This record gives sequence, structure tokens and C-alpha cells, in this order.
Amino acid sequence: MAQQVRAVVARGKGSPVSLETIIVPDPGPGEALVRIQACGVCHTDLHYREGGINDDFPFLLGHEAAGVVESVGEGVTDVAPGDFVILNWRAVCGQCRACRRGRPWYCFDTHNAEQKMTLLDGTELSPALGIGAFAEKTLVHAGQCTKVDPAVSPAVAGLLGCGVMAGIGAAINTGNVGRGDSVAVIGCGGVGNAAIVGARLAGAATIIAVDIDDRKLETAQRMGATHTVNSQATDPVEAIRGLTGGNGADVVIEAVGRPETYRQAFYARDLAGTVVLVGVPTPEMKLELPLLDVFGRGGSLKSSWYGDCLPSRDFPMLVDLHLQGRLDLGAFVTETIALDEVEKAFDRMRNGDVLRSVVVF
Ligand code: APR
Ligand code: ZN
Ligand code: ZN
Repeated sequence: MAQQVRAVVARGKGSPVSLETIIVPDPGPGEALVRIQACGVCHTDLHYREGGINDDFPFLLGHEAAGVVESVGEGVTDVAPGDFVILNWRAVCGQCRACRRGRPWYCFDTHNAEQKMTLLDGTELSPALGIGAFAEKTLVHAGQCTKVDPAVSPAVAGLLGCGVMAGIGAAINTGNVGRGDSVAVIGCGGVGNAAIVGARLAGAATIIAVDIDDRKLETAQRMGATHTVNSQATDPVEAIRGLTGGNGADVVIEAVGRPETYRQAFYARDLAGTVVLVGVPTPEMKLELPLLDVFGRGGSLKSSWYGDCLPSRDFPMLVDLHLQGRLDLGAFVTETIALDEVEKAFDRMRNGDVLRSVVVF
């Protein structure tokens, strides 16, 4: 029996989101119905609402979520009703050329639920990142559910489903930060601060936080930055070199997604160092660099999709580290809000007032 639940829907470009009743079908083969307990508010939700991703309105927003599996469809064996899960937006297929080569975190054919959730009049909804979790219940592909220790608070766990995983993964997976490394992080929002936490977890000795907002730099210090640089007051490339014996950092993580901050990252890294781009640029942005510098400075220039994470490997591990007190994920939850406060949370996000607002059900 299909169910009716309350959900946050974006009906048109730029208009405020509305709380609506939607219809969620029973899970079909390979699908799972999840009762959502918490869902973080991410920039990507706002991008959807503003029509910046595509025009497939109406969108069912929300994608940084944790909850309990209510029922599963035919053939689902990895999760069962009652399991506490974090939702991921890259359910790997196991069969594409990346998966077959043993690099499933690059999977080029990730899965979502096949059946559509709809408005009461039957209009099909487009769930954000194939999830749509600003809803009491949502329908996903079972591979989008990763079981973790239920002792963790749902508000904290959900954040691993997107931004926090992207940042931690940018440091530990993509950047391969190691013991004793120097790391600089440009842009210290939710993603950048997660990169700082990841760098610390990996044993980085020097962690330099760069931002244009002093409030973010204060947070970065609490998260484990050893030095902070306000790049409006100080040239960040000079400052990072100065803090690393004149050389530049081993790994520089760009968590803004703009050409000027990318250029800073490029020149603030040591010879043969690594730049990781985890901030997401917009289509009109262009980067210009002397090709001789790209060659002459060596090293690697990488981008990090979703922190190059493998949910089945990384989510349970990070939850365990959190439960052991070795990874303070709670620090990312600035506030918990109700389902009808998502629009207000977007405003706070734009003002830079929060790392994360999290809807709890
Ligand atoms: N130099 C340094 N920091 C900057 C600059 C700049 N020129 N411009 C903005 N920032 C800082 C902001 O002050 C803020 O602290 O970058 C941070 C961005 O943080 P958020 O807006 O909270 O965004 P976040 O959720 O961390 O995502 C960062 O990753 O996933 C992508 O789409 C997302 O591109 C975005 C990026
Ligand atoms: Zn694949
Ligand atoms: Zn997100």
C-alpha cells in the first residue's frame, strides 16, 4: 500500500519551498522504504530550488539523512526492516568499468529507486540526488542504505551522507593525507571544516585554515586547525608558504569551488604536492594557469567527488570513530530544526551563520 507522508517540495525556480503531502510507493525489487529520523540542509538543496542543477521541478529536497528501514522489496538482502542506515547518493553498481577494475568509489552507473514518489495529483517528484529526505519517509535503492551502529545520534549520522563525508574524504581518500603532513584548507564551511577534521584524523602535523570570515576561522580552530589565515587581510599563498618553511603545504584542499581560490591552492602547495578540489564550481567558471607551472611544479591536481568515499567502507568506520570519541561529528550540527523550517535554514546558510542545520523528525 502506497503511503502519504509530509515532505518539503520545491515547485518552481526560486520560489520558497512548501510543506506538502506526497505519495510514497511500496518498495519494488531492489528498493527500500526508509523512515527518516534526521536530514541536514545542504547547499545542493538550495541549488535545486534555484534551478541551478536542472529544470525537473517539482523537487523533493533533502539528501543528508539517516533513518530506519521500514520495508524492503524483492531481492534485497543487504538491509532489513529495523536497520539503522545512513543514505548515500552513490549506490555502486558493481558492474561498470570502474567497479570491475576494483575502484567502486568512481562507479559510473550508480543506482536510485525506479519507482517515482508523487504529489497527490500524481505529478512525479524528482528527489534531490536520488534521495529526497526532507520527508517522513522516502523510497531509495537498497544500495543507497548503509547500515551503521544505531548508538549514534541520527542528526550526526545523516551528515556523513553528504557534506561531512565529502570533506573528510577529500583529506583521507582523495588527498591521501598522512602522518606528519602539512595541509591547508581553503574555505572553512561544513565541507572545509570536515576536511580539517579528516586531516587531523589522518595525522597531519600542520593544518592551516583559510577563509574570509573570522567566525569560520574560529570554528576551524576548534575543529583542529593549527593555524588560521584570513585571506581578505593576508595573502594566503604567502601565509601558507610562511607557515611551512617557505615551501607550501603537502596537500591543499580547495573547498570553495572558485577559480581564484583554486589558483591560491595551486600556488600554496609544495613542489610535487597535491591539490584537491572538493568545492563545486558553476558552469561559467574558467581557470587559467601557466602550463609551465602545471608541468614544473609536478605533483597531482585531483578532484574529489563525494570525498571518493565508499559508503559501505567509510560510513561505519567514521561512525565507530565518532562513538569512540575520536571524531567529533557533533560539532557540525549548529542547530536542529523542524521540517517546516527548511526555508529559514536556507537564509541562515546564505548568511554563513551555520555549519549545518539539521531537520529532526
Ligand atoms: N576565500 C576563502 N574562503 C571563501 C571564499 C574565498 N574567496 N569565498 C567563500 N569562502 C568561504 C566562506 O566564508 C565559507 O566559510 O568558503 C566557505 C564555504 O562554506 P559553505 O558556504 O558553508 O559551503 P560548504 O557546505 O562548506 O560547501 C563548500 O563544496 O559541496 C561544495 O557546493 C559546495 O561549493 C560548495 C563547497
Ligand atoms: Zn559501477
Ligand atoms: Zn549535499
